[in-house]
Amino acid sequence: MSHIKLLNIVGARPQIIKASAISRAIKKHYFGQITEIIVHTGQHYDKEMSDVFFEELEINKPDYNLGVGSASHGRQTSLMISGIEDILIKEKPDCIILYGDTNSTLAAAIAASKLHFPVIHIEAGLRSFNKTMPEELNRIVSDHSSTLLFAPTHAAFKNLMNEGFRPENSPPYTIDNPKIYLTGDIMYDNSKFFAALAEKKKTDFFDNLRLERDNYILVTIHRDTNTDDFERLNDILITLESLAKERNITLVMPLHPRTIVSLKKNLYGLYCELFGSKLIKIIPPVSFLEMILLEKNSRMIITDSGGVQKESHFFKRPCLVLRRETEWVELVNNGTARLVDADPVKITDEFNNMYDSLSMLEYPGFYGDGKAAEFILKEVLLMFEN
Ligand code: UD1
Ligand code: UDP
Repeated sequence: MSHIKLLNIVGARPQIIKASAISRAIKKHYFGQITEIIVHTGQHYDKEMSDVFFEELEINKPDYNLGVGSASHGRQTSLMISGIEDILIKEKPDCIILYGDTNSTLAAAIAASKLHFPVIHIEAGLRSFNKTMPEELNRIVSDHSSTLLFAPTHAAFKNLMNEGFRPENSPPYTIDNPKIYLTGDIMYDNSKFFAALAEKKKTDFFDNLRLERDNYILVTIHRDTNTDDFERLNDILITLESLAKERNITLVMPLHPRTIVSLKKNLYGLYCELFGSKLIKIIPPVSFLEMILLEKNSRMIITDSGGVQKESHFFKRPCLVLRRETEWVELVNNGTARLVDADPVKITDEFNNMYDSLSMLEYPGFYGDGKAAEFILKEVLLMFEN
């Protein structure tokens, strides 16, 4: 039986949440076989974007925090690359695990592959086919720097095949002979694991927010295309405000700091108006357990987040996606998520369509069996036995 040392790389909020599934599976199934070293790039740093997840999801404190913070893409990524490189040289891990598609993912993929450390990419193969989206380039480079690639969905697996990855490759696996797997989604593992705990631990949450279960719509907005384009942001918010009034329903918006910064700077009048509205609750980012409660008990979810789109499905809630395209195409094909861009007409039409047909929608299991993390670690260990 082999023993391996792996570097677990996090940086942005969703990666900390994703890493908790891997940390939990190590503790539960592979204790003594896998030593985990957690590296936080510091891409997200506010308490409610970072610390809260370590505390609540019981992840070990990072062994390293590079404290990179916010900056332009190039500057942020380059600081991360050099910081991760130093750690790789010092720690000499057997492999490095990365999640998703952020600048932290890209930096870790570049730093590790250049030094010939095997890269394991979780959430591989997702594509928006829109290379102006910063995440798309991050995904492509990370996938093509990896040795083991774990695709969460059939669509992601197929994308990898279309880019030349071959499932029939046999060991030993290397960056030039990579292995691809269809695994299901570790975020489904997390939602299953934490849903019951959320109800148990956060009993006062709805009372404190003065919110009635099943009588509100959950909204999140953070994608650069929406926050940095004031016309789009304005169109989205004005349309949602008017729909809330028409239906007399509350909108709960835990907003990413990026969105708040943009609203205050560029749409201050609208920001004040929304704050003054009885039907709109703009709140700071919430913890993952709180987010699960908000998702599970909402009537509908409106978002531009990748993670929140999927969670809408896990909790059987219809979803309007404030984007032109999505990587989670199975949701749109299923009709339970609708692409509405930032278009007032599309938002209004699809909102009304969804609102009036809530109980008729079906939510098949697209994302595995809730044991993706366990499967991934088993395959990682196997790589070192071969
Ligand atoms: C990043 C990812 C995105 C992911 C998102 C998850 C990239 C290119 N983008 O976007 O794919 O969906 O994380 O949330 O990696 N800020 C704070 N406090 C923080 C963090 C950020 O105030 O703790 C503000 C700063 O003004 C910063 C802005 O948010 O400039 C953007 O942060 P950044 O990490 O660059 O990108 P995200 O939009 O968070
Ligand atoms: N999330 C959270 N609190 C919030 C907003 C989101 O815990 O206030 C969680 C959400 O449940 C999901 C993840 O953060 O698991 C998604 O992160 P985000 O929307 O920032 O990024 P994306 O998934 O689009 O990369």
